[in-house]
Amino acid sequence: MTAKPSPGRDELRKALAEGRRLFLSVALFSVFVNLLMLTGPIFMLQVYDRVLASRSEATLLALVAIMSFLFLMMGVLDHARARVLARAGARFQARLDRRVFDAILRRAVSPAERARPATGLRDLEAVQKLLSGPAPFAIFDMPWTPVFLLAIFSFHWMLGALALTGGALLVTLTWLNQRLSRELQQRAAMAGAEAEALTEAARRDGETVLGLGMRRAILDRWAQVRGLALESTIAASDRTGWFSTASKTLRFFLQSLMLGLGAYLAIRGDVSPGMMIAASILMGRALAPIEQAIGQWPLLQRAVQGWRSLSELLDRSPPEPPRTRLPDPRSILEAQHLTVLAPGESQATIRMISFRLEPGQAMGVIGPSASGKSTLAKAIAGVWKPASGTVRLDGAALDQYSDEDLARHVGYLPQEVALFDGTVAENIARMSDRPDDAKVVEAAKRAGAHEMILNLPQGYDTQVSAGGARLSGGQRQRIALARALYGDPAVLILDEPNSNLDAEGSEALNRAIVEAKARGKAVIVMAHRPAAIQHCDLILMMENGVRRAFGPRDEVLRQHVLNHAQVVPGAAAARPPAAAAPGSAPASAPASAPASAPASAAASARGAAPGSAPASAPASATLPSAAPASRPVSAPGSAAGRAPRPAPYPASDPASDPAPDPGPGGPAAKAGPGAKGERP
Ligand SMILES: Nc1ncnc2c1ncn2[C@@H]1O[C@H](COP(=O)(O)OP(=O)(O)OP(=O)(O)O)[C@@H](O)[C@H]1O
Ligand SMILES: [Mg+2]
Repeated sequence: MTAKPSPGRDELRKALAEGRRLFLSVALFSVFVNLLMLTGPIFMLQVYDRVLASRSEATLLALVAIMSFLFLMMGVLDHARARVLARAGARFQARLDRRVFDAILRRAVSPAERARPATGLRDLEAVQKLLSGPAPFAIFDMPWTPVFLLAIFSFHWMLGALALTGGALLVTLTWLNQRLSRELQQRAAMAGAEAEALTEAARRDGETVLGLGMRRAILDRWAQVRGLALESTIAASDRTGWFSTASKTLRFFLQSLMLGLGAYLAIRGDVSPGMMIAASILMGRALAPIEQAIGQWPLLQRAVQGWRSLSELLDRSPPEPPRTRLPDPRSILEAQHLTVLAPGESQATIRMISFRLEPGQAMGVIGPSASGKSTLAKAIAGVWKPASGTVRLDGAALDQYSDEDLARHVGYLPQEVALFDGTVAENIARMSDRPDDAKVVEAAKRAGAHEMILNLPQGYDTQVSAGGARLSGGQRQRIALARALYGDPAVLILDEPNSNLDAEGSEALNRAIVEAKARGKAVIVMAHRPAAIQHCDLILMMENGVRRAFGPRDEVLRQHVLNHAQVVPGAAAARPPAAAAPGSAPASAPASAPASAPASAAASARGAAPGSAPASAPASATLPSAAPASRPVSAPGSAAGRAPRPAPYPASDPASDPAPDPGPGGPAAKAGPGAKGERP
């Protein structure tokens, strides 16, 4: 055994040791079962040497009675130890199930890990099967082998020598079996798991597979892996099969040979005929555990391999340390020189990012694709740990909160929305087993998704499947927003929250942001589409994983975004009136008010009935601003005004942003870079 310290292995051993009392009782039962196993040979010895010699029927009757009773006892004890062992194995599994699944989940953060089949639970099952099956009997019975051998030796040394040689041969076979079949077994297990993972992946993304005509290709790939799995399984079973047949034949042969040798010795008068028979039976008993071990070999090997990879898995995801429970944090979020590596990568995805958000503030994170916005979101949500620097929530680094508490304080809407098997309400309640209906509805209302959910076939009790089937992309996103808002978290992180939203959804989203701000929450919005950053006070501009600009929204947009007037028309209007482009002034003036005064915006947002006429409420007055912004915005201009390195705000997708077209900024948008003429 290597002496390398392994907390995972220690954990497994500890779990195993917890069943110590059960195993001890099995060992005790085994003592009696093995003693009782002597009933057969002793009975035979007595019948041959005593009953047949004396021809006494009474003796025979007494012997039969005793023998029957002893065999009955043996049966009962044997059954009892099997039951106890089954429970010991089950207990081991139950003790570790949650822990192993938790470790798998946490490892799944890394895409490389996710791509590999997760064998953790199957490893655990393999160990459990070994513990519950007949294999441990072989171990408990093994110490009796020398006892039986000794008994044979006591009859005659030649008989003993033969039994010993036979035993040695069988052990050699076992060892060879182990040496030669281990690799095949492993390969078979790996290939099997791979085929299964491929099946799952293809099933999950069935629509893509069918839609892109990939069925045949996937089938071919799958068949290949599956064929490989089958091949290795057959090769492995061929080999172990050969060994178990060889050992079985050898054992039968040895038993007959023993009888022959006993007969020879009996003829010479060295042993009695009873001894001749008893020796043959005893040898059978002595070698049984060895043969059993060989029969159980695949199971044993799988379990040993499972044990190893389990301890490795547990090593890599140690249990969460207990943490002092902190009071609910205020919505103050601060990143200090935050550098994050995607799990399993060696190059930082974002570097040295710093910002600070106060209660009631919203920050927009903008930047081109792959600039690290989602990475930042994951780091703040605590999904990816910082490589250096910290994220602090109300002064405490994120890892000072338990995972569960952190999830309660930080609501996260990921860029790729995943829902789980369950009802809409359960999904909003984050699959909690005791969802709080009032909180679910409140979150849905805050997300502006209440009416939309009521319109689903069974409202909040509509079943959704893991793939999100039966819901549209936009519906899914809005439910996910409600899920992020569930439990009223102190900080909201919305990663591209409007990528699938229509005008109404966008409006609901903006209302949710405004309302969260009004209630003193901090909001972070990662966005490509300008509509989502309308109510942000701050902008963090990312480029290639570093912070290119950070500061008040209007300032950052003016200095770094060519088409800032179109992105958030309010930005232009919020500046001194002289700076505002004539075209954008009228409509954007009301919109700018909420951006700079959260409380009043919230009041107006609450006042606005959802779906009310666009012109009637201040909240909807911001809507037209989405129109100019919705078109692909201008290219980097040479007409860069005063800004040192202005860049256009990433273009949004016109096809999926169906805001009303002819907004007041329309002409300016069409003018492209020329629209920058607003700056004197
Ligand atoms: N799981 C991952 N493993 C390794 N690298 C990753 C992983 N996720 C993202 N990256 C890399 O990190 C960089 C930033 O990705 P990120 O998803 O943060 O970009 P983004 O700004 O959100 O882009 P988009 O606007 O397209 O959503 C990219 O270069 C990407 O390849
Ligand atoms: Mg992203």
